[in-house]
Amino acid sequence: MTDVMGLAFANPLGLAAGFDKHGERIAEMQALGFGFVEVGTVTPRPEPGHNLGVDTLVANVAKHRAAGGIRIVVGISVGQNLGTPRELAVEDYLTDVRRVWAHADFVTVNLSAPAARYLGEAAYARTLEGLLRRCKDEQAALTARFGRRVPLAVKIGLDPSSQGIPEIVRAIARRRFDALIAAIGTGDRGAEPSRDADAAIRRDAARSVRLLASHLDGAMPLMSVGGIVSPEDAWERLEAGAALVQLYRGLVSEGPGLIQRITGFLEHAAHSAPAAERVP
Ligand SMILES: Cc1cc2nc3c(=O)[nH]c(=O)nc-3n(C[C@H](O)[C@H](O)[C@H](O)COP(=O)(O)O)c2cc1C
Repeated sequence: MTDVMGLAFANPLGLAAGFDKHGERIAEMQALGFGFVEVGTVTPRPEPGHNLGVDTLVANVAKHRAAGGIRIVVGISVGQNLGTPRELAVEDYLTDVRRVWAHADFVTVNLSAPAARYLGEAAYARTLEGLLRRCKDEQAALTARFGRRVPLAVKIGLDPSSQGIPEIVRAIARRRFDALIAAIGTGDRGAEPSRDADAAIRRDAARSVRLLASHLDGAMPLMSVGGIVSPEDAWERLEAGAALVQLYRGLVSEGPGLIQRITGFLEHAAHSAPAAERVP
């Protein structure tokens, strides 16, 4: 068991957002051995070609929960519609957060989607600050109203070659979000892994996790996603300071057996010390 964000994870490996966009495959992913899933990303209104909208996702997750047997942690990733003007983007996120609140173990504010990338630009620093502040205010308001606190994570895309701590990370940490999901190689390349690009991701990812973890210094747990296609990849990210890891394309390229291989390896590694000697 791993405790992160006040939630108990049976193991630290999760399904990354985008694979189960509408929360239809939670039981199936649990059976594969994932410790958690992040469903979505959904937006308030359906987004043709991308998602059917938050109401469809909520109905599916509620159906799964009502059927019983869901023991893994279920995070719900939320975003803005592509057509929403930038000054109104925050309203999309708040609408989503309110709609999914009762159904999520944690909620991810997805700033890694193409529609939200501008928030990482200096020109939009104030927009970003406002969005982060209002999401945290909404979390406090909903916690008071429903008597149940749902952790809020933020997912960002990271340039794997960048040497410093991006301002967006500082802003998220200042606002005391419950977790940071640092993605390298977000969906731009499509569902097919590319061998060269993935080798580059793996080379830089552990280094960037180490940098982020040392900057955050335990203030906020970190999830690492991008380029994990083997047990060693997952172990390396955890060793570097990630509390949890996620994968998407590895499930496609390596097949579902990868999940048990990773969790088995991690369990074994956790019981054999010293840990560092296990990584070549
Ligand atoms: C086809 C596709 C769709 C995706 N859709 C989403 C999404 O809706 N929300 C999100 O946060 N990430 C999305 N992602 C990004 C993944 O969650 C993940 O960050 C990225 O694929 C890197 O991890 P991987 O190398 O294990 O695939 C998508 C990725 C792919 C390939």
